[in-house]
Amino acid sequence: MPKTQLFHFPLLLFTMVVAFAAATTPVALQFKEAPQFYNSPDCALVVDKDRESGSDGEPSILCSDRALHVAMTLDTAYIRGTLAAILSVLQHSSCPQNIAFHFVASATANASLLRATVSSSFPFLNFYVYPFDDTSVSRLISTSIRSALDCPLNYARSYLADLLPSCVHRVVYLDSDLVLVDDIAKLAATQLGDNSVLAAPEYCNANFTS
Ligand SMILES: *[C@@H]1O[C@H](CO)[C@@H](O)[C@H](O)[C@H]1NC(C)=O
Repeated sequence: MPKTQLFHFPLLLFTMVVAFAAATTPVALQFKEAPQFYNSPDCALVVDKDRESGSDGEPSILCSDRALHVAMTLDTAYIRGTLAAILSVLQHSSCPQNIAFHFVASATANASLLRATVSSSFPFLNFYVYPFDDTSVSRLISTSIRSALDCPLNYARSYLADLLPSCVHRVVYLDSDLVLVDDIAKLAATQLGDNSVLAAPEYCNANFTS
C-alpha cells in the first residue's frame, strides 16, 4: 500500500465526525454528556417537581431553603473548568439532586449558547443563568494584582446577594478552576461566626482581619 493512503484515512474519518457532531447539536459547545446522579435514600425531599414549580416553569429547588445552592461564573473561556467543577460537585455529593446551581454570565455573553452547553453536558442539572452587567464594575478594577483577575465577571461574586433571588439565603461560590474531592455539603455547613456573612479560605497569606 502506498504510504500516502495511510494518511488519507484518518483525515476522512475526522471530517465525518465533525460533520456528524455539527449536524446533531448545532447550538452547544461540544463536551461529553455526564450521567445522571441520584440522591441517596436519606436525602431530604427538596422539591416535588410534579406539584411545585416557579411561575416560569423552573423547578422551585432554585428557591428552596432545603437545597444546597452553588454559584459560579459562566463564560466561554473557562467553560471547560466550570463543567469539570460541576461534575466534581455532583460526583462527591450524597444528595446531588438537591443541589441548585446559579451561574452568573456577562450580560454581553451569548447566554443561550452557555445554557445549551451546560444542559447538553448535564441534562438533569437544576440551574439558572443570571446576566451580570460588566460595565458596573469594569471601571472599579485595579489592574495591579494579576491580569487574569481583571475580568469584570471575576467580581460578580461580590454582587451575588443582588443577582440571585432573595429566597436564596446561603450560597457556596466556587471558582471555575477547581475540582472538589469531597461532599460540598460539608463546605456548605461551615459555621459562620456571629455577625459574619461571609467565609473564605485563607490562602496566599490573605489577611481578612484587615
Ligand atoms: C448564540 O449562539 C448560538 C449557537 O452558537 C447562535 O446560533 C446564535 O446566533 C448566537 N447568538 C448571538 C446573539 O450571538
